This record gives sequence, C-alpha cells and structure tokens, in this order.
Amino acid sequence: MTGGAVNVSLIFSKCPMHITPLLGISADALNALLDDAFGTDRHARTAYLLRKGMAAIEHLSFAILDDGELLASIQCWPVRVGKANLILVGPVAVASNRQNEGLGTQLMQLMLKVATPQDAPMVMIGDPEYYGRFGFSSDDTSGWTLPGPWEPRRLLLRNNNKVVLPTHGLLGPAD
Ligand SMILES: CC(C)(COP(=O)(O)OP(=O)(O)OC[C@H]1O[C@@H](n2cnc3c(N)ncnc32)[C@H](O)[C@@H]1OP(=O)(O)O)[C@@H](O)C(=O)NCCC(=O)NCCS
Repeated sequence: MTGGAVNVSLIFSKCPMHITPLLGISADALNALLDDAFGTDRHARTAYLLRKGMAAIEHLSFAILDDGELLASIQCWPVRVGKANLILVGPVAVASNRQNEGLGTQLMQLMLKVATPQDAPMVMIGDPEYYGRFGFSSDDTSGWTLPGPWEPRRLLLRNNNKVVLPTHGLLGPAD
C-alpha cells in the first residue's frame, strides 16, 4: 500500500472521530498517549536523541480524536544525515485499547499524502513488518549511525524521489 489512498472522510469531519492537526492538542494529552503506547521510559529511546531540540513539522503531524479523546498521533521532525535533510517520522502512537483498528494506517496515509515532492526523504526507527507497507525499508541505511543504540533492521528509509543521500553518516537534529 502507498500513501496515495487516503480515507478523507475522517479528515476534519464533524463526526465524533476525526483527524486534526496535532498543533491544537494539549501537551498533557499527547504525553499520556505516548506513555500508554511506548511506556514512560520512552524518553531514553534513540529516536528522542535523534531529534533533540527540534520542533515537530506542523504540516506533517496529526492526531485522531474520538469525541474529544485523543486516540492516536503522528509526529515528524527535521533531521539530517551528514548534510542531507531528512524527515524523521514518529512516534506513531495508537492508544493501547484502540490498536489494530486502522488508526495507525490512517495517520501514515494522511502524512504521506500531505508530504510534497519538496519534502525531504523520510527516515524512521520502527518495525519493517509494519512500516514496509508504507514504502519504508532498511535497504539503504546500513552505513548510517545514530546517537544511541539501534537495531539496523529497524532503521528505515522512504526515498521515493530518489534523492542522493550519503551512504555513510551520523543522523542527528537538523541544526
Ligand atoms: C504500531 C502502531 C502504530 C500500529 O498502528 P495500529 O493502528 O495499531 O495498526 P493498524 O490498524 O494500522 O494496522 C494493523 C495491522 O498492522 C499489524 N501491525 C501492527 N503493529 C505491528 C508491528 N509492530 N509489527 C508488525 N505488524 C504490526 C497488525 O498485525 C495488523 O495486521 P493485518 O492488517 O494483517 O491484520 C500501533 O499499534 C502502536 O502505537 N503501537 C504501540 C507502539 C509500538 O509498539 N510501536 C512499534 C512499532 S515502532
């Protein structure tokens, strides 16, 4: 599956469940969701070091609300490998009692739909068994290093525009 097919019926609709820009969501609600999905020790994860000090990319960060309750979120961040710009995708978080209902898929598809050709290639640390369906793979990331521990098979790239990227380099915050 690619990012081309988005169920727009959920987007900005007036029904109780809808997708909205993450910008309007309270930090407390977002932190509670992330704690639920990833655990309270999540701040030690390498992905957090990778985008330390960066603000999320607003036009690629979304939430799903159901009658005002935050069910799921996606955030994207500006990072670099060497001097090349990348977009770090994640965390993608779905409330533990609402997983496997398609919410993660909705968020990924919308984010990929909204991304423009001018947006940088996308990188993430995640399970290839899930994110492979959205065009991410570890095929071209084996020469990259991160500011913390990682499993090489989970360092994933989506570079549909075939941007020339360094084959070796350290990933880190964009500036
Ligand atoms: C991973 C996550 C974002 C997926 O979102 P979701 O809304 O639960 O999943 P979806 O409904 O979009 O997709 C469900 C499908 O993905 C599969 N799937 C879900 N998470 C998976 C994973 N980590 N690895 C492999 N497959 C996965 C399900 O088995 C299901 O497969 P099917 O379509 O063949 O039945 C969500 O479960 C989550 O936030 N999990 C907690 C955080 C986590 O464990 N992350 C690990 C990946 S970084």
